[in-house]
Amino acid sequence: VHKEGLLYEGKAKKVYTTGDPKRLWVEYKDDATAFNGEKKGTIRGKGRLNNLISAALFTYLTRQGVANHFERLLSDHEQLVRQVSILPVEVVVRNMAAGSMAKRLGLEEGRKLSRPVVEFYYKKDELGDPLINEDHIDVLGLARPEQVGQMKSVALKVNRLLSRYFAERDLILVDFKLEFGLTAEGQLLLADEISPDTCRLWDSQTQEKLDKDRFRRDLGGVLEAYQEILNRVGGEQNV
Ligand code: C5P
Repeated sequence: VHKEGLLYEGKAKKVYTTGDPKRLWVEYKDDATAFNGEKKGTIRGKGRLNNLISAALFTYLTRQGVANHFERLLSDHEQLVRQVSILPVEVVVRNMAAGSMAKRLGLEEGRKLSRPVVEFYYKKDELGDPLINEDHIDVLGLARPEQVGQMKSVALKVNRLLSRYFAERDLILVDFKLEFGLTAEGQLLLADEISPDTCRLWDSQTQEKLDKDRFRRDLGGVLEAYQEILNRVGGEQNV
């Protein structure tokens, strides 16, 4: 495959066409943003780490039967994916209260939830990605009810698989965000990325945060934390 024109540039990635309408070329950038783009920064080497981590996690999920867009690595900061149209819904799964849920509901961060909580957010920058429910998704026409049901059950399956996968690597999966897309044939695929930018991951022994909260909260050591996650998911061997 070869890289063609720039199709889309987001906060953390650039997406190019490839000449094959079924495949896209994704380049992970070193840019970091938080709080709906209010906080910006560059973390040299982050794109490479997220590309490799995301590739390792999608490869694991493929082996476990979770249909997703990942095809193969192209370089240390690029990957080839199936072309999908991304549904404008972010699906968040939480095992512990943290971040916006802790704040919204007045819960202590790190409080274990009695069961996983699934939330939906409307992917719309101008609105700051508001929390929505299945009725809003239906009324706004963001996805069909059966697709919402599918997204929820895949998200819970991914939670079971990744919670165990990370636990085996001395990491607690606190929460994470998924995005889904539709192929030209209408198949729903897990898409976007799964990385320390989109997951909260804490060290099981020390509770140390090894994710984007280090950037959001100015804790320092962002790259070192992401490198530690890459080491624990199998290191650089995939390139
Ligand atoms: O901020 P909040 O607590 O709602 O985030 C929940 C989870 O979803 C966190 O792991 C966060 O990194 C992820 N997230 C994301 N992209 C967003 C919002 C949240 O990856 N736009």
